[in-house]
Amino acid sequence: MTVSAIRTIPFFNYRAAFAADEAEYLRIVSDVIQRGAFIQQKDLAEFEARLAAYVGVGHALGVGNATDGLMMGFKALGIGPGDEVIAPSHTMVATVAAAAHAGATPVLVDMGDDHLIDPAAVEAAVTSRTRAIVPVHLNGRTCAMGPLLAIAARHGLHIVEDAAQGLGSSWQGKRAGSFGAVAAFSFYPAKILGCMGDGGAVTTSRADLARVLHVLRDHGRNEAGDVETWGFNSRLDNLQAAILDTQFKRYDTIVSRRRVIAHRYNDRLRDLAALVLPAAPDSQPDHFDVFQNYEIEADRRDDLKAHLTAHGIGTLLQWGGKGVHQFGGLGFKVSLPRTERFFTRCIMLPMNMMVSDDDVDYICEAIRAFYGE
Ligand SMILES: Cc1ncc(COP(=O)(O)O)c(C=O)c1O
Repeated sequence: MTVSAIRTIPFFNYRAAFAADEAEYLRIVSDVIQRGAFIQQKDLAEFEARLAAYVGVGHALGVGNATDGLMMGFKALGIGPGDEVIAPSHTMVATVAAAAHAGATPVLVDMGDDHLIDPAAVEAAVTSRTRAIVPVHLNGRTCAMGPLLAIAARHGLHIVEDAAQGLGSSWQGKRAGSFGAVAAFSFYPAKILGCMGDGGAVTTSRADLARVLHVLRDHGRNEAGDVETWGFNSRLDNLQAAILDTQFKRYDTIVSRRRVIAHRYNDRLRDLAALVLPAAPDSQPDHFDVFQNYEIEADRRDDLKAHLTAHGIGTLLQWGGKGVHQFGGLGFKVSLPRTERFFTRCIMLPMNMMVSDDDVDYICEAIRAFYGE
């Protein structure tokens, strides 16, 4: 099969992602200026309320970014020096940095068949110093939480969810961000719900933790203005919250479209033996996936990437193509074979609201041509 005339399909077009609704965003900016409402104002409170209800938790707090959210989550739980935190190496370095900045010792483990943290590896890594497990809900899929919750209960450990990529995904009908003591979400511009810069949120159902997190994100100050502890300046800007709240009202439509794209990729690629695809939407009843990313495994991955580039198709090797333990500067000594092999085979295909059905067909045609189909 030959590939039809060359198109240009960027992996993610930051300008287009926001330009489509530019007039609406400019109205929001103007409204916020007119009200002089920049820090911890009503738009933030409204967004937080909507987010908490959506995730299914008692409290959501806007913070500077997900990394800060995780770090403050560890601190709110009293996790720090001398404590171990178990996390997957298959994640963004931010997950692990958050534990390190809280003063804890990160312990990295391998991935399972689903590419997410492997419960058996977690169990094997638990020591008398372990305080928390960090499931990372990558690519818009909630980890299968059953075994992880059981391990946490058995050993008296906290679950701190990295839901940076998981907003709206669920496992057995419960949404990412509602399983742990705390969870963090990212609103980085390329996220499904993205703002115009950095932004994040922490969620919790525990009122005591919510109170500590309120204090931590605002210089250690409580509502009376009294400084209770060393805090941070990590508040979600009111303007960003107003922008996010507007997008959030159409979140279900956005997620539906991404699932249609995922279906289309699956229909057109699933017979190729050279590829491992993410589970198609609705093919596994326990999971509702939102497809933050569409990441596949591919034989001859680097050649495929070059072939797609030559056909105008942008792809991404996530995080520089390495697990966290493979960044020599961080000093990890472990070997995690599944993660290491995965990073020789993984590649992300375009998955966003700018991708048309025809784009998906063209991308799949190019992939099939590469494998001689
Ligand atoms: C899995 C994961 N964790 C943490 C982060 C950090 O999020 P933020 O950039 O909001 O700090 C990201 C961001 O891309 C992520 O993908």
